Amino acid sequence: MKVNRLFGGCLPAVYLSRGLQTKLRGNPYDKIEEKVIKKATLFLYLLKKEGVVINMCGIVGYIGTQDVKDILLNGLEKLEYRGYDSAGIAVVNENGVHIFKDKGRIAHLRTVVDETVLSTVGIGHTRWATHGAPNQRNSHPHQSSTGRFTIVHNGVIENELELRQEFLPNYKFISDTDTEVIAALIEHFVLEKEDVELAIRHVMSLLHGSYALGVIDAGNPDVLYAAKNKSPMLIGLGEGFNMIGSDAMAMLQCTNQFVEIEDEEFIKLTREGVTIYNLLGVPVKRSPFTAELDASDIEKGTYPHYMLKEIDEQPYVIRRIVEQYFEDGQIKMDQKIVDAVQSADRLYIIAAGTSMHAGFVGKQLFEQLAGIPTEVHISSEFVYNTPVISKNPLFIFISQSGETADSRAVLVKIKQLGYPSLTITNVPGSTLSREADHTLLLHAGPEIAVASTKAYTAQVAVQAVLAAKVAGKSDLDLSRELAIVANVMESITDHKEQYEEIAKEYLTQRNCFYIGRHVDYYVALEAALKLKEISYIQTEGFAAGELKHGTIALIEKGTPVIAIISQEAVNLNTRSNVKEVKARGANTVIISLRSLSSETDQIVIDDVHPLLTPLVTVVPTQLISYYAALQRDFDIDKPRNLAKSVTVE
Ligand code: G6P
Repeated sequence: MKVNRLFGGCLPAVYLSRGLQTKLRGNPYDKIEEKVIKKATLFLYLLKKEGVVINMCGIVGYIGTQDVKDILLNGLEKLEYRGYDSAGIAVVNENGVHIFKDKGRIAHLRTVVDETVLSTVGIGHTRWATHGAPNQRNSHPHQSSTGRFTIVHNGVIENELELRQEFLPNYKFISDTDTEVIAALIEHFVLEKEDVELAIRHVMSLLHGSYALGVIDAGNPDVLYAAKNKSPMLIGLGEGFNMIGSDAMAMLQCTNQFVEIEDEEFIKLTREGVTIYNLLGVPVKRSPFTAELDASDIEKGTYPHYMLKEIDEQPYVIRRIVEQYFEDGQIKMDQKIVDAVQSADRLYIIAAGTSMHAGFVGKQLFEQLAGIPTEVHISSEFVYNTPVISKNPLFIFISQSGETADSRAVLVKIKQLGYPSLTITNVPGSTLSREADHTLLLHAGPEIAVASTKAYTAQVAVQAVLAAKVAGKSDLDLSRELAIVANVMESITDHKEQYEEIAKEYLTQRNCFYIGRHVDYYVALEAALKLKEISYIQTEGFAAGELKHGTIALIEKGTPVIAIISQEAVNLNTRSNVKEVKARGANTVIISLRSLSSETDQIVIDDVHPLLTPLVTVVPTQLISYYAALQRDFDIDKPRNLAKSVTVE
């Protein structure tokens, strides 16, 4: 029995308990004990019960009049940020279906594709696997045995073993993936039902799990089929062509008109039009929407890296947030959202990574501005170790992508408990946005670099807007204060040389500390994450006053310690902590606000409103991380082991 059959092409071993992973790694697939397989199946069942979506692959498909190869390859490049290890495309023309696929990057796939094959219909895929061999054989697209149906799949089919046993007992599979089972089943039911659409919908009804599918029928190359359940997918509309893609960015090169797809829907695309059906084959009407973004939003332009471009975009993002959420100086926001926050006796912010760090700043804002007690929780912890919940809670999910599985697992759980929810996200139509009661958008534009920068500042700014709106009348003129923030951000990004120098001079060791008190501590956490994720320097963010209770033991000659000082109440305390580490040999850097600065501080930032300081103090730390990684010649936009959108628990 092959282990990958249990887990599917895209299901990584991170789903398995650590002990189980070790067992799996140590065993050739064929020798794995039955009980290990059973344990894995149980694990999957539990995950399924929690409604967790488990995949990180990407899909693009096109039917139109232009040669499809570059459209697919360019689309796949836009999905690279999701993380992947293999890629492939299939195109169909009068000579049949041509598949080009291999492990490795899209740049490599380009060398594999035969330029002489011309076609106007095709599908493409990026596959991300952390377990099992990411090889040519397991890469998508996959075909049914006669070669009639060719498919790409993002997701995992949990009952594929049962499906194999029941419908395909003698089928000769080529790959280890669950995807091939879908291709085989479609062919199986086409023979039985003599109708392709009926057969695909029937297969959909049999599948348990998540899928976004693109299907080519060699017998009818003027149609492209698609289907979706739990995995993300959008339709792109154009003149004389239509598309599917895991997200809008994969299609922006061709269109900015999109249609959302709901779970368990089946789609038929031709050059002239698109029809969406439910599982029963009843057509569903849905209006298209125009994406705010344009292709230049996702081009690097003259920038060497997306991360640097996105750092530089932050002033514009703050101005865009003001534009979107203010009218004549007043905050405009869906009253239902304001009511939901106002009627809560406690807010529970649920998030992961950088978004969680933005949540800590949000806690400060909700408590200081609106007086509402607020807790921040790591989403992966909350699901299994749920705290006592207040009588009238509101759950706020902060997620750049809106797809993070850890956060979604919490949303599934709190919905079962009947609690209200709000998602703050950058991606309209994302899973967390669709499934929560309310959504507030970040309007940050696509963030491509894995290390999040502009999404963080947008998350802080949007929380400030919400907190200020809920607070009602206050002395804070937020639109004016945010305008000041945008200008100060610009004054920081205009002087990048300074940060390059600091990275060169101070970040010479394998470790580093960021320290701060009050809200600066939250920024220290984010600054440390940014530095470690792209420069691989082991960095900790610490509450400055806590350092002396143990961690100061790690300070030795030359250890870089960067202190953030933006709050008057703790200015002197943090400076004392800096002296303590300096006395023990640390190489210290101080980032301070001008009104609190001392002559020797290396980085001095113009003042902003005390509640909004994280929006500006974080920017130098982003730049320091960027230059530290640049000096080490690392892949800044795609750091090792990380994915932008983590759709595994
Ligand atoms: C991943 C990314 C981080 C991000 C986190 C949460 O780990 O690499 O940059 O902060 O997921 O993602 P979300 O999309 O929910 O904000």
